[in-house]
Amino acid sequence: MLELAIDSLAFGGRGVARVDGYVVFVAGGLPGDLVRAEITKPKGRFAEARAVELVRPGADRVPNRCLHEGEPCPGAPWQGLDYARQLVHKRDQVDEALRRIGGLDGFELEQIEPAVEQWRYRNKLEYSFGVRDEQTALGFHASGRWDLVVGVEDCLLASERGNAARNEVREWARDESVAPYDRPAGTGTLCNLVVREGRRSGQIQTRLVTTPKRFPRPPVDLHTVIEDGAGGSEGPTGVLGEEMLREQLCGLDFEMSYNAFFQTNTEMAERLYAVAAEYAGLSGGERVFDLYCGIGTIGLTMAAKAGEVWGLEIVPNAIADAERNAERNRIENARFIAGSARTGVRPLVEAAGKPDVVLLDPPRPGLSPKIVRRVLECEAKRIVYVSCNPTTLAPNAAQLVEAGYTLRRVKPVDMFPQTPHIECVAEFDKA
Ligand SMILES: C[S@@+](CC[C@H](N)C(=O)[O-])C[C@H]1O[C@@H](n2cnc3c(N)ncnc32)[C@H](O)[C@@H]1O
Repeated sequence: MLELAIDSLAFGGRGVARVDGYVVFVAGGLPGDLVRAEITKPKGRFAEARAVELVRPGADRVPNRCLHEGEPCPGAPWQGLDYARQLVHKRDQVDEALRRIGGLDGFELEQIEPAVEQWRYRNKLEYSFGVRDEQTALGFHASGRWDLVVGVEDCLLASERGNAARNEVREWARDESVAPYDRPAGTGTLCNLVVREGRRSGQIQTRLVTTPKRFPRPPVDLHTVIEDGAGGSEGPTGVLGEEMLREQLCGLDFEMSYNAFFQTNTEMAERLYAVAAEYAGLSGGERVFDLYCGIGTIGLTMAAKAGEVWGLEIVPNAIADAERNAERNRIENARFIAGSARTGVRPLVEAAGKPDVVLLDPPRPGLSPKIVRRVLECEAKRIVYVSCNPTTLAPNAAQLVEAGYTLRRVKPVDMFPQTPHIECVAEFDKA
């Protein structure tokens, strides 16, 4: 146990303290705080720790608002930091990643786009089942505790309707005595629950993941999809409610399968796509590749300004959704192909020809050096990279710049208030 003064924030959101030049990353510590912290992982040149007591709060501290059983919400680790300071840290971390990890300079770092809603912005949350005080609880794992579930009554990251849906499933489990799955004992049924919401369509979709045990039918009006994690089930598997979730984005109608990716902040997805569209700078005739296209949202929202759009995505259901989404919006200049960015870019160039603009929107690990090479072979005049992780954008950006692109501008967009997650859009132009 140590008393530590937190002086800054690391990538990933933990506080940084220094003791005689030795760095300690402190979960739950924010800049300016003096905390008592328990060392959780002592390592050679640094240590990891967890704040157990706030001895003196930093000047930018604000009261925690989202609490579950008295504990700060694990989904909102930066909620104790004034929102204006959160924005400053996020913009600084994008700058630092590009300069320090990517070795880049000379780019324009635009102002960060603040979130429209600081709370109740998530359209998707995943909860775990557990037991508290001999009752079924449905909530989040306590930080760093995979064996402990903290029950949630009202999470301020979810809408009121999303909270009500979760609570309804919990009450059903209690009323019908369907037990949470207990991994060490191998008993029980209920593993986790995903609640997804169409913010504009008003739909709620819940996905219940269970063991293959028989249990009573859950309330159908929750659009419940039951998955069986272990293959074969005697329970009510399959779709009991509506299978597809609908949402409107940038004036278009979208439909998504329950396992397809969709931006978790609907309102900010529109702002993010507006930045990507501005950076793409389309004038009407361009051939656009939308790599990592999901259900086709970015490419389809740009299709009216493009000559043609080609989407590539690894999840076949998402591609089927993208094709239907093009059709339902009467977009005729978009094609979608199921495949990996690793192996699918060369065949795409053979089928479509070389693109003028490439849109990239990979998951958090970013692109492998080999995929960057495939992108370079496209010889696009412009690459617009939507990144949810500046520390993986940075090496990809360095590789693009090394190969002759100029990193022109970068704009951070705050999709995830109260968390350290950073989204940004970067524009690369070929000289
Ligand atoms: C951050 S999401 C972006 C989706 C979409 N652009 C949007 O805005 O909703 C990343 C997408 O990449 C897909 N993906 C992951 N690995 C991939 C790969 N190797 N090749 C192609 N797509 C991949 C995921 O299934 C997911 O749909």
